[in-house]
This record gives sequence, C-alpha cells and structure tokens, in this order.
Amino acid sequence: MDLHKALKSLFENRMPSDEDLLRIIDMDDPQLELELAAKADQIRQANYGKKVYLRGLIEVSNVCQNDCYYCGIRASNSNVSRYSLKPEQIMECCEVGYNLGLRTFVLQGGENFLYSDEILVKLIMEIKAKYQDAAITLSLGQRSRESYAKLKRAGADRYLLREECASKELYSKLHPSSMSFDDRLICIRDLKELGFQTGMGFMVCPPYQTTKDLVEDIKLMLEIKPEMIGIGPFVPHHETPFGKEKAGSVDKTVRLISILRLLFPKALIPATTSLVTLSKAGRYKGLKAGANVIMPNLSPVQLRSKYELYDGKVSTGIEAAEIIDNIIREVEEAGYVVSLERGDAL
Ligand code: 5AD
Repeated sequence: MDLHKALKSLFENRMPSDEDLLRIIDMDDPQLELELAAKADQIRQANYGKKVYLRGLIEVSNVCQNDCYYCGIRASNSNVSRYSLKPEQIMECCEVGYNLGLRTFVLQGGENFLYSDEILVKLIMEIKAKYQDAAITLSLGQRSRESYAKLKRAGADRYLLREECASKELYSKLHPSSMSFDDRLICIRDLKELGFQTGMGFMVCPPYQTTKDLVEDIKLMLEIKPEMIGIGPFVPHHETPFGKEKAGSVDKTVRLISILRLLFPKALIPATTSLVTLSKAGRYKGLKAGANVIMPNLSPVQLRSKYELYDGKVSTGIEAAEIIDNIIREVEEAGYVVSLERGDAL
C-alpha cells in the first residue's frame, strides 16, 4: 500500500519523500515495475517521441592518474597496456562516424594531462570546422575551470562528469583519499555555469552502496539539473580491489532509469554498455524504461580491449558499422526509431 502511494506521487510529478523514493528503488514487484517503466516510457514519448539518439563514442586514452577502486584502467593496474590516440587518429574515428551518419562525437578518456588545453582546443576546432552539424561531447574528467572555459570557447557542446556517488562517506570507500567529492562537485558546477550541456551519473550497486546513497544522488541531481544522466550497474574487474565483488542489479538499474525519467522528463538518458554487459536484454529494458540514447563505439577495433573498465565489456572487436546496424535493429524491435540528429537537450 505504501508503495502504491509512493508511486502515485511520482506519477503525478510530485517529488516523493526520501522514504518513498527508497521504497520505489527497492521494490520487488514485477507488476508494479512494469507500471513504473510504462509511465516513464509515456513521459519519454511525450517529450522525445520514439527517437533514440546515437552518440559515437571514441575512447581516446586509457591513461589515468586516478585510482578508483572499481575501475579496470585505474592507475595502479600495471597489466593495462596504455594508449592515447593522436589527434589524427581521433579525426579518423570522427570521419568513420560521420560517414555512418552520427552527429555527436563523445571523446572519452581516463583523467590525464597528456591532452593539454592547446591540443584539445585545436582538435575541437578542427572537428567543428570539418563537421559543422555535429556536436562534441567531452568526457575527460576533472580539469580546472579555466581549462573547461577554453574547451567551451573552442566549440565543445557537452561534458560528461559523473559524480559517481553523492554520499561523501561512500565516495571515500570507492576512491583513494587523494580524490575528493567536493572537488568533483566544483567541476560539475563549473561545467554547468560555463554553459555546457552537462552529464552526471553513478553506478548502481558498487560495494558498500545503500539505497539511501542512491537517494542522495537523485537529490543532488535535482539541485544541479543535469541535461544528461548516465547510470549503469557496477561490474567487477578482476584486476581491481573490487574484483571479487558481486555485480550490480540490472532490475534496480532499470527502476532507477524510470525514476530519473519521471523526475527529469527532458533528460538525455543512455541505455549504457554496462547494462548490456550484464544482460542481453539490458538495452531493450533500458529503452522500455525511459532511456533515449545509445552510444555506439567508434574506437579503433584493435584498441577496444584495452579500454576495459570492467570485465566482459561488450562489442570489443566489432566494427562501428556493424554495431550501428545491430543497434538500429534492436531499437526497432523495441518499438523505437534511431535518430541521426544531433539530439541536444530540450
Ligand atoms: N563497473 C561499472 N561502471 C564502471 N565505471 C567505471 N568502472 C566501472 C565498473 N567497474 C563507470 C564510471 C565512469 C564511467 C565511464 O564508467 O561511473 O564514470
């Protein structure tokens, strides 16, 4: 009964209490979960129709100075063979993607300063000059406000910087003491203030996470109002301190996608690779629950396996063209259509 009441307030576009959010996130009722997803899908369709936007993901570098306990490319994993794409190689990836019809390029990489502001500014300007109808999304970690400002002026449109977890206590259990949640939050606020379409997000069920922690993430997002929200289940990587921990819950992730869709009707929410890694039906479930973005991988095939954030990451070894064909088929099977528009936030 309490759960019904909690859902009612969410469906009526009222912010549920913390206790009600907890109940919804933790519910274990297949019938109500379908209702939740259907409601989220209705809101998504009211805003974005049946469109699913594609973002060409280019994993520019797996060099990372950070040592997050969950991540396979953490600095202290000495078994990773490190690479950083040269600007020319990144341009080649964009060309492949552009010719396949993609109009957003996501430059994602470990946090490192091999890519100076100067190199990035030149690269962004080159991509923008050559592909004027394309958007650039950066996902390169924490940098100074000045650096972000330069990247924005050069023409970058969007920036993804997941908060990872809004609970400071949990943050300190997932990261070494050299990393600070407060610093990360400053970066997210800077990005917003500088006018980037800003992406936030978190993992579902990393070790030590409680549902209360997830409520904190949602509340932080309500305050910051990100245009993009990326969430995915935790997936262990065997060469990390969390290598033997249990993988996150697909169903809980899917419920959270629906909750986020209802609280952020206009957000761009991807069905993430980690969701697909844990379940063949992950993409279908994500889309049906309110997700409206998919990020096909444009990275050079021979380097894909080196960008292993977690074990079993899917679609290593498959060319971009084939990945996109598969996505188009899956999206249509789920009852949606792939859109090749830039797909900015409404
Ligand atoms: N499982 C799931 N997601 C992970 N990420 C990093 N490591 C893992 C993992 N083991 C996520 C982080 C990061 C994004 C690029 O990938 O949230 O922000």
